[in-house]
Amino acid sequence: MKKILVTGGTGYIGSHTAVALLEKGYQVIVADNLYNSDERVLDAIAQITGVRPLFENVDVADEAACMQLFRRHADIEAVIHFAAYKSVNESVVKPLDYYRNNLDSLMRVLRGMEAVGCHKMVFSSSCTVYGQPETLPVTEDMPYQDASCPYGNTKRIAEEILKDIVRADGMKNDAHPSLKVLLLRYFNPIGAHASALIGELPNGVPNNLMPFITQTAAGIRPRLSVFGSDYDTPDGTPQRDYIHVCDLADAHVCAMEYLFSDGFSGWDAFNIGCGRPYGVLDVIRSFEKMSGVKLPYEIVGRRPGDIEKIWGNVEKAKRVLGWQAKRDLDEMTLSAWQWQRHLQEKA
Ligand code: WQD
Repeated sequence: MKKILVTGGTGYIGSHTAVALLEKGYQVIVADNLYNSDERVLDAIAQITGVRPLFENVDVADEAACMQLFRRHADIEAVIHFAAYKSVNESVVKPLDYYRNNLDSLMRVLRGMEAVGCHKMVFSSSCTVYGQPETLPVTEDMPYQDASCPYGNTKRIAEEILKDIVRADGMKNDAHPSLKVLLLRYFNPIGAHASALIGELPNGVPNNLMPFITQTAAGIRPRLSVFGSDYDTPDGTPQRDYIHVCDLADAHVCAMEYLFSDGFSGWDAFNIGCGRPYGVLDVIRSFEKMSGVKLPYEIVGRRPGDIEKIWGNVEKAKRVLGWQAKRDLDEMTLSAWQWQRHLQEKA
């Protein structure tokens, strides 16, 4: 049974990916410093899969702690690296925290992998590396654009670091196999596992659209502010490529299996989305239809840093990884609401 290290594995996408990996028979080690998540997620994963992942309460940005983690699990065969700060807004306010944490964690993990001879990584990247694309849908060969925030810039820099290490490994003629890296560029993950036992758990006031919608519908927030309706889009609101978090988790399993296949070496990048745009009002309408709740909202000014529209060409992931999204917007919004109701029942 292959042992996979999932850093940031108690987080939103990490926990859903841990479930998908366990269900495919992988052994999962979760490393997380619980900065933006809760250890009880592991009990929920156990309830869903019947297996509680081995948990390491480690800040992988801490060099010594990260190296000790790898020494304890020298038989790790691959790493899925999620551990990072991920708030667009917060990164604008605390850029130094974001560059230190997101880049230190990547480099400490790479050092640990090198120390134990682990050469396979799936990296949690982001469509933010495309900035505001000139042509849509975006394809993986499009050049990086200026990221709209330090968070997005840490993802672009991380991709460059990983590519350079792969190139350097490729130049060595020693017996050690070169690093193999898959860069998964997520669009907008929303929704929750069908069990409603895991989902998005934002700290404080949510930055992202979906948790703000569900907290408004639950009466926690008085109303949703829709940031701008004067964009050059069908309904005037910004467009995003929303993807169900479980489809995103499945993409990581497909990527993992591709990493273990003999035919791949070096690095490659994949857009992981549904390949179609929705405006904010589309999401609201879907949510109201699926939840039966009329959502109070008001149109306000644009949010600084927002791009107008982005969605991905997702043909490459289908062709190479054998993966494509299966769940539609209604399933995304319904599952998000069911998760919010589970949180209310638990409160
Ligand atoms: C979506 C839309 C807002 C809140 C996210 C992640 C980022 C990256 C890319 C992975 C925008 C509008 C939002 C609200 C609103 N993913 N909105 N009112 O900014 O696209 O970025 O996807 O790396 O990590 O944050 O997502 O959910 O904040 O916004 O009108 O209260 O909803 O203007 O059009 P965003 P978001």
